[in-house]
Amino acid sequence: MTLARRAQRIEPFYVMEMAKRAAEVARASAGGDAPMIYLNIGEPDFTAPPLVQEAAERAIRAGRTQYTQAPGLPELRERISAWYAQRFGVQVPARRIVVTAGASAALQLACLALIDAGDEVLMPDPSYPCNRQFVAAADGVPVMIPATAAERFQLSADKVEAAWGPRTRGVMLASPSNPTGTSIAPDELRRIHDVVRARNGVTFVDEIYLGLSHDPRYGQTALALDENVISINSFSKYFCMTGWRLGWLVVPESLVNAVEMLAQHLFICASTVSQFAALACFEPDSLAEYERRRAEFKARRDFFVPALEAAGLHVPVQPDGAFYAWADCTAAARKLGVSGSWDFAEAVMQRAHLAITPGRDFGQHETAQYIRFSTASSMAQLHTAADRLKALLA
Ligand SMILES: Cc1ncc(COP(=O)(O)O)c(C=O)c1O
Repeated sequence: MTLARRAQRIEPFYVMEMAKRAAEVARASAGGDAPMIYLNIGEPDFTAPPLVQEAAERAIRAGRTQYTQAPGLPELRERISAWYAQRFGVQVPARRIVVTAGASAALQLACLALIDAGDEVLMPDPSYPCNRQFVAAADGVPVMIPATAAERFQLSADKVEAAWGPRTRGVMLASPSNPTGTSIAPDELRRIHDVVRARNGVTFVDEIYLGLSHDPRYGQTALALDENVISINSFSKYFCMTGWRLGWLVVPESLVNAVEMLAQHLFICASTVSQFAALACFEPDSLAEYERRRAEFKARRDFFVPALEAAGLHVPVQPDGAFYAWADCTAAARKLGVSGSWDFAEAVMQRAHLAITPGRDFGQHETAQYIRFSTASSMAQLHTAADRLKALLA
C-alpha cells in the first residue's frame, strides 16, 4: 500500500529511538550497581498534585464523562483566563481560549487553521522536532534558520526579515525553547512580531514551558504583545500532567469560530475527566505546589549546569526556563575517542548508564555537536549523574 506523500516525508523521532536503546541497555545491566539514570526525558518527574487527582476521581464517580463543548469546559476556559490575569497581568478573554488534547493538538489546530499547501513557516534551528512535522502535516514547508548561541538559539527580527520570501506565511517560535531552555528577549519578540505583522503573517509562539520560567526578564507571555499572537500552551509541563493530554490554544477573536469548527470535526473535545481535573490546578494549594516545584526545577538547574561545565560539557547559554541544558560535547566526545553527539550519547549510555538526547532531532545547525540534558529528575539522581559524568570524563 502506498503511503501518502505527507507520511513519506515524516522523519524518525530520534529521541524515541534513543529512549528504546536506553531501555535495552538498562535491561542488560539490570541488577548492577549503576542503574540507568534517564536524563533524556522531557517530562516532569512530578505527578498531578492531590487536589487534581481528587477532582478526576470525583468526575469519574459522578459520571461526568460525556463530551464537553469542542473549545472546552467553559469553567476551565474561565480559569485559564483568570490565570493569565493573575500570573501575567494580561487580559485574555475565555472566548479566545480553546482547550485541546495537549499542546500537540493545539499545534495541529493552529497549523490546519492557518497554513495552506506550500506555505513556508520559519523556525529556529535547533527547535522542537514535532513542530516541523505539524507544519508538514498541514502541507506547509518548515524552513529552519540557524540560530546561534549569541542569539540565545532563537530567531531575531533581522533574520526573519532576511528569510522572508513570497511563500512565507509566518514564524513558529518556542519560548522557553526545547531543547535549549532559552527564551526570546521580549524586545526581540516584539520586533519579530512587527516584521511578521507588517507582512500580514502569523506569529505562532509555543509557550508550553512559560510557567517554568526562572528569570523575570523572560517570564512574560507573548499574548502581552497584542491579540494577533497565536499562543500554544499545555498542562503537561508546569502543571505536571503529561499523560492527561490537556493543553490549550489562544487565538485572535476573528479566528475563534473557524478554530472551534475544526476542533469539533477533528477532536470533538479534549478528555472530559482531564478537564474536570484541571479545574483544580488553579486552586491556591495546587498553585502553591506548582510554585514549589518551579523553585525545585530552578535549584536543579543551578546545581546541574555548573556540574556539566565542571565535567567539560560547555553550556553556552544559561537556560532561563524549562528543564533542559543544551551542552556542547565536542571536547568531551574527543576525550572518549568518539565524534559527534550521537556517538557521544551512545558512549555515555554504555559506560556511565546515563540516557541523554543527542542533538540530531532538533535540526541540523551544529546539532551534531550538542547534547540535550533534561533536569526533570530528582536532585539525588542529578548528583549521581554529575558524579558519573565527572568520573567518565576525568
Ligand atoms: C516545545 C514543545 N511543544 C509541545 C510539546 C508537546 O506537549 P504536549 O504534551 O502538551 O502535547 C512538547 C513536549 O515535549 C514540547 O517540548
